[in-house]
Amino acid sequence: MILAPSVLASDFGRLRDHTAEALDAGAEWLHIDVMDGHFVPNISFGAPVMRGLREMARERSVPLDVHLMIENPDRYLEDFAEAGAAVITVHQEACPHLHRTVQAIQALGCRAGVALNPATPLVLLEDIAADLDLVLIMSVNPGFGGQAFIEGSVDKVRRCRQMLGGLRSRALIEVDGGVTPTNAGALVRAGADVLVAGSAVFKGDVAANVQAFRQPDRTIA
Ligand code: DX5
Ligand code: ZN
Repeated sequence: MILAPSVLASDFGRLRDHTAEALDAGAEWLHIDVMDGHFVPNISFGAPVMRGLREMARERSVPLDVHLMIENPDRYLEDFAEAGAAVITVHQEACPHLHRTVQAIQALGCRAGVALNPATPLVLLEDIAADLDLVLIMSVNPGFGGQAFIEGSVDKVRRCRQMLGGLRSRALIEVDGGVTPTNAGALVRAGADVLVAGSAVFKGDVAANVQAFRQPDRTIA
């Protein structure tokens, strides 16, 4: 299981040091939540802020996992690739020409992901699944950290794993929103490869929080 702490929940006053704490405690990826105030009802930060984390992540060989909760993501793909993105995920709901967007991300040398809001059915990814590197299942409505996990998401992950297997897609499954050490085990057993966690990593003792995701009874399938 790959743990991807979401920098959205970190203390922005000490962004670099706080996020470095999570990586030094063993988190494998760093999740970057970009919000534009249009696609979601909140504004976070953009590529220039992310660029400030690039060197710190590179020194630790940690990939930057960018989640674009924005309209017209095509306009900004190059900026995020240049700012150090290893994975760029766009929302299905924001991309009328999803195949073109996925191709553009991969042409920039990044892995391409597509995110689905809780109410968006998996079937909308059927015809693109074979081209994807990652599917992001939203387990809250995007826009804010600290929301309650939507329980039906575990079953959606299970159905997604089945669908990807049937379509011979090698895409990783990532889950984002309300993820804690308590629901991590069920998500991994259902087929999740990457777990995003904001509050559950950054509220309180970061190293102990990262460690809590590693308890075998909770993470072994
Ligand atoms: C929600 C974001 C999530 C969020 C996760 O819009 O995409 O990445 O920051 O935060 P928690 O883990 O606190 O739900
Ligand atoms: Zn996210």
